[in-house]
Amino acid sequence: MNRHLLSAGDLDRATAVDILDTAERLDHALAGREVKKLPPLRGRTVVNLFYEDSTRTRTSFELAAKRLSADVVNFSAKGSSVSKGESLKDTALTLEAMGSDAVVVRHSYSGAAHRLAEWVHGSVINAGDGTHEHPTQALLDAFTMRRRLRGGEGDLAGLRVVIVGDVLHSRVARSNVLLLATLGASVTLVAPPTLLPVGVDAWPAATGFDLDAVLPASDVVMMLRVQRERMTESYFPSAREYARRYGLDARRMAMLHDDAIVMHPGPMNRGMEIAAEVADDPKRSTIVEQVTNGVSVRMAVLYLLLGGADE
Ligand code: CP
Repeated sequence: MNRHLLSAGDLDRATAVDILDTAERLDHALAGREVKKLPPLRGRTVVNLFYEDSTRTRTSFELAAKRLSADVVNFSAKGSSVSKGESLKDTALTLEAMGSDAVVVRHSYSGAAHRLAEWVHGSVINAGDGTHEHPTQALLDAFTMRRRLRGGEGDLAGLRVVIVGDVLHSRVARSNVLLLATLGASVTLVAPPTLLPVGVDAWPAATGFDLDAVLPASDVVMMLRVQRERMTESYFPSAREYARRYGLDARRMAMLHDDAIVMHPGPMNRGMEIAAEVADDPKRSTIVEQVTNGVSVRMAVLYLLLGGADE
């Protein structure tokens, strides 16, 4: 692996499969242990540098680092000297001066992780930068698809994935499209025209507007959160109209073939992009599994970036 993980597009097929394989190995190594801890990152320090709210990503990076015996510092912009005007660069250099080996950064500005990588000596992991990328989410999604539909081995060649909803504001969609293309899956984006970004034609994905038309031939349906906090104008007439045209409800779920799965990165707007009965469906919904798998995948990323493989 490179020193940093900034974009899913930086991963070639071999590296991406290596991360997924490493996550499987680490998961098996921990299975059945009373104390869920392995030694490879003993003496290393990981800083979680979060300028934006998070439940899943921050917690799972913390757990992943601790399970590899690293020391973890959780930094939240709220309550820090950021409120006195301290910049991202000065904050990162301050934390590095205290001995951090890796910085896991979430920031509302697209490109923040790339800038940080120019300033610090250690590894930088992009935990979500604005509307740009969220590479570890794409990796944990690929890990979940591979486990459910490919027996936990190899790549995702031939898998048919439809990603639905607010693509415009979604770093999850962008990272997933890049990684899924690398792993051989075919991706279709379905969204209102107002919620597709300019330039989407250049992405390695097809686009469409009719969800019912693509569901029967899909192996994976990934629903995206409608990111109202990033919306500065009206992108659709009403929440009800959005749910009617682009929401996944029980009627639409019944159009899927027997083995197809339903994914969502969370947090969800239940009743809008996904009906509660779909989100909680015990057979198709992988939403809770995705969260569990996130810890294993983030362990693999930390292990490979911080040289755990050399120990
Ligand atoms: N999926 C995801 O990134 O969730 P959080 O915002 O809770 O980290």
